[in-house]
Amino acid sequence: MKYDYLIVGSGLFGSVFAYEMTKRDKKCLVIEKRDHIGGNVYTEEEHGINLHKYGAHIFHTDNKEIWNYINQFAEFNRYTNSPVANYKGELYNLPFNMNTFYKMWGVKTPEEAKAKIEEQKREANIKSPSNLEEQAISLVGYDIYEKLVKGYTEKQWGRDCKDLPAFIIKRLPVRFTFDNNYFNDLYQGIPIGGYRKIIEKMLEAVDVKLNTDFFEDREKWLNIADKIIFTGMIDQYYDYCFGELEYRGLDFEFETLDIENYQGNAVINYTDRETPFTRIIEHKHFENIESDKTVITREYPKTWQKGEEAYYPMNDDKNSELFAKYKQLADKEDNLIFGGRLGMYQYYDMWKVIEEALKLVKSLG
Ligand code: FDA
Repeated sequence: MKYDYLIVGSGLFGSVFAYEMTKRDKKCLVIEKRDHIGGNVYTEEEHGINLHKYGAHIFHTDNKEIWNYINQFAEFNRYTNSPVANYKGELYNLPFNMNTFYKMWGVKTPEEAKAKIEEQKREANIKSPSNLEEQAISLVGYDIYEKLVKGYTEKQWGRDCKDLPAFIIKRLPVRFTFDNNYFNDLYQGIPIGGYRKIIEKMLEAVDVKLNTDFFEDREKWLNIADKIIFTGMIDQYYDYCFGELEYRGLDFEFETLDIENYQGNAVINYTDRETPFTRIIEHKHFENIESDKTVITREYPKTWQKGEEAYYPMNDDKNSELFAKYKQLADKEDNLIFGGRLGMYQYYDMWKVIEEALKLVKSLG
């Protein structure tokens, strides 16, 4: 065999794995079906601005080891994610905190805010929440649910909140302080110069073939290395023998504008049901880039069709059962390991993907 490892997919999982194994003197080949490395964290420069080509990517973690790990590949800025919600022209701070409560109800103290939420919970008379709507109302009250959760969530998942499981928002961030920092994690930031540079560094000493789809020459790739790390879709690998796993799709609409500052914030969520996009990203604000132009992206959630880019796994009962069947097949493989968000059919934040890849490296010795 020519290589120790064939790594299918140059996303964060495949790239961390390839970097670590190359460091351990293993010969690695990465094949990637897209025309660029990096998978969904890929950024591309335009007018000096690093564009997040597959949606906003903010690095955040509580894990010091992973934070130190990623910092060896780039310097991170001190970006703090503080999205704003636009509901039919009214602006609210996110996550739900004293600024949001003040704007919504005019309450000025945590006691007043808690009392207001309690009052709305009582009125809704929900004992044990059985769906997302009831879960949200019991966490933040009716007004916030109606203006800031309902429309956004229904667009995101393409279903009525009454038909969505409660667990999706089990941990809605709610704070009784005047703090617009979205994440509770100790570490967060954006890599200065974009994520692309991180992946380029990881793959510097690795053989990489772009525009190369594993399925177009399966026999060849199955015989090129001792072991395969597969970060593509697990159901596709098994020819959808048990059926297709479902995803939520996304369309990104990019627009370059001849103005310096379009919306004054990196992320603005549009939380009403009627606006067809869920958010607008203004990329320059991730890195405080000075430029007389700006680039924005509108994000449209959509029903996913086979063959399109898959974004969010639909981890409901039906799909979880289906994935369990594929996982049983995967567990019987000797020289094939599935990894990453498509291989594990799991939404993973970036830090978690890195942790998983490092765990795998360790387990292989
Ligand atoms: P990823 O999908 O990136 O890589 C898989 C690669 O395999 C792709 O490049 C694909 O083309 C390739 N491939 C697939 N099949 C193949 C085949 N048959 N042959 C060859 N190549 C093949 N996380 C976070 O921490 N903070 C954030 O703000 C965000 N934001 C965010 C926004 C959106 C819209 C999404 C969808 C996701 C996020 N994430 C995130 C999550 C983040 O994107 C995720 O953790 C990593 O990109 C996952 O990396 P993987 O390598 O697992 O998959």
